[in-house]
Formats: sequence, C-alpha cells, structure tokens
Amino acid sequence: MSKVYVFTEYGGPQHEQLIDREPPQPGPGQIAVQVRAAGVNPVDWKIREGLLGRSAELPAPMGREAAGVVTAVGEGVSDFSAGDEVLGHPAPGLGAFAEHTLFDADTAHLKPEEVSFTDAATIPVAGTTAYDTTHVGDLDAGATVLILGAGGGVGYMATQICAVHQFRVLAVASEAKRELLEAKGATFIASDSAVAEAVAELAPDGVDLIVDLVGGDALRSVAPAAVSADRVVSAADPATAEELGGQGRPTDPETLEKITDVISYELVDPHVTAQYPLSQAREALAAVESGHTEGKVVVVP
Ligand SMILES: NC(=O)c1ccc[n+]([C@@H]2O[C@H](COP(=O)([O-])OP(=O)(O)OC[C@H]3O[C@@H](n4cnc5c(N)ncnc54)[C@H](OP(=O)(O)O)[C@@H]3O)[C@@H](O)[C@H]2O)c1
Repeated sequence: MSKVYVFTEYGGPQHEQLIDREPPQPGPGQIAVQVRAAGVNPVDWKIREGLLGRSAELPAPMGREAAGVVTAVGEGVSDFSAGDEVLGHPAPGLGAFAEHTLFDADTAHLKPEEVSFTDAATIPVAGTTAYDTTHVGDLDAGATVLILGAGGGVGYMATQICAVHQFRVLAVASEAKRELLEAKGATFIASDSAVAEAVAELAPDGVDLIVDLVGGDALRSVAPAAVSADRVVSAADPATAEELGGQGRPTDPETLEKITDVISYELVDPHVTAQYPLSQAREALAAVESGHTEGKVVVVP
C-alpha cells in the first residue's frame, strides 16, 4: 500500500486525512513517480474549500506540484525511464502529497542534478507562476515592477526574476519580510502602511507592471499606479484584475523548462523555509492557509 493525503468532503481542514491506496499504475503517456517532495500552495486549500468547483471524486488527493523518481513508464512514453529524477504536476485525481503518484509525461520535466528535490517541487506551480507573471509586457532593464505579496512562495521568486532582468522592484509585504526583500535589491513597502501613497511617491510616473499575489482591496488600491491597465496581472484574483482592465496569470508550456534552468543556474532560489513529513501534511497546509508564510513550504514523504 501507499500513503496519500486527501480531503474526504469539501470544507475545512477537518476533512483532511492520510489514507492508504494501491500505488497508482501508469496508463498510456504517464509515468509513475515515487514522490520525494511536494510543494504546498494556497490552491490546495482553495480546492478543498470548494472555491474552484465541487466536481472532484472524493476522497480527493491533495497537492499540485511534486518532484521525485520515476519507477515505471506507461505505454508510448519514450522521454523518461525508471530512475529518472523528474518534476511536474500530478495527473488529475492523483495528488502530490503522496508516497507515489503519476505525472503525464508530456507535462513533466527532468530534474537537473544540481537542483534539490525540495527546490524542484516548488517549480511546477509557484516557479512557473513567478516566471509567467513577471514576463508580461516585455519590459526593459530599469522598468519598475510592483509586487504585492513579494515574500511568499510566488512573490519571492518573482522578486528574484525581476532582479535578474534588472527591473526596479517595489516589494509589498509584511515588515517581517523587509530584510529578505531588501537583500535582493527591492525597495520594501510595508503592507500595513499607506501602500498606494508610497507607490505614488516612489514611482510618480507610474509602474510598468503590477504583479498581484494578494488580490481584493490590496490590488484595487494600487492598480491605478500602473502605466496602463493591461499592465496589471494577478495570479491571486484574476476576476478583479480583469475588471480593472488587466489579466489573470498567463500560461506558456515552455515556462517549466525556462524557470527550471534559471533555478539550476542559482539565479533564483525558491527559498524553502519549512519541510514537513507526510504525516504532518495537515500542519504544512495550515501554515500556507494562514496566508503569511515566507518562501515555500514543502511536504517530504
Ligand atoms: N493562477 C495560478 O496559476 C496561481 C499559481 C500560484 C499561486 N496563485 C495564487 O497567487 C497567490 C499567492 O500565492 P503564493 O503561493 O505566493 O502564496 P503565499 O506563499 O501564501 O504568499 C502570499 C504572500 O502574501 C503576503 N500577503 C498577505 N496579505 C498581503 C497584503 N495585504 N499585502 C501584501 N502582502 C500580503 C503574505 O505574507 P505577509 O503578509 O506576511 O507578507 C504571503 O507571503 C495565491 O492567491 C495563490 O492561490 C495562483
């Protein structure tokens, strides 16, 4: 048998449970993966709460990004073989907080040797989101980028990607994250201060891109600072971004490879700040659900 962390009903964390299942066998186009690490994301609890629909078969395995070792390949898979170290999204309905899962081979990627399993496990969701949201608008060096939620899983990688491009980053986060962000060259703005006023003072001609990882009123209050409405991009709250003339997170199938390379060159550090065993997946999810973690939280089966 093989352990997997699931929710048994839509709703709160009381419906989460660690259960046993038969190790999943790869179908055509799939690879079986022994999970070595899985990234925790806000989407995990949003799915459990039913905020993204209620059509999943229950119990529903949790977790959307993982890294591990290939144990078997399904029919028609030629790019991977047993023993390969990989990262990717678990196939629908399989989960990442598990001892074993399946990836669809066409969305998986080889893990570079120099990238740890824990770092690799943060790439498929958080890393790609950081990459895609910071590549809106084809900006030049010197452009000003405002990042809301700059010290979180996506935000801290987004901050570092902007530093690579020599953008000027205005990083909005809680005071506890000031040092972390200033060390990457960002100009820190405390999230509990008058943020819109601070932005107006620091960028009187407007900001070239707003990367929003918070949403709601925090986004509404700063959105007018963008040089144009289409320079507002939100992973956290696409509906509000669209209402304001901006967009949700764009996606590009090539991003997984690009951000994996960037991380393997040590240009971006996913900043894994906490690792929990699978038996403590509940605590890992609760930490992320608190909404104030720094960098990434990872479950290590
Ligand atoms: N669409 C997609 O594909 C996609 C992919 C990944 C993530 N997302 C979404 O993007 C959002 C961020 O994800 P994440 O993984 O980075 O989450 P996270 O790791 O929880 O980070 C969120 C950060 O926002 C900060 N924050 C909270 N309220 C704030 C405020 N008013 N102003 C500034 N910062 C604030 C938090 O800490 P402090 O307040 O302590 O600084 C935290 O560091 C989530 O809503 C997630 O669901 C979407």
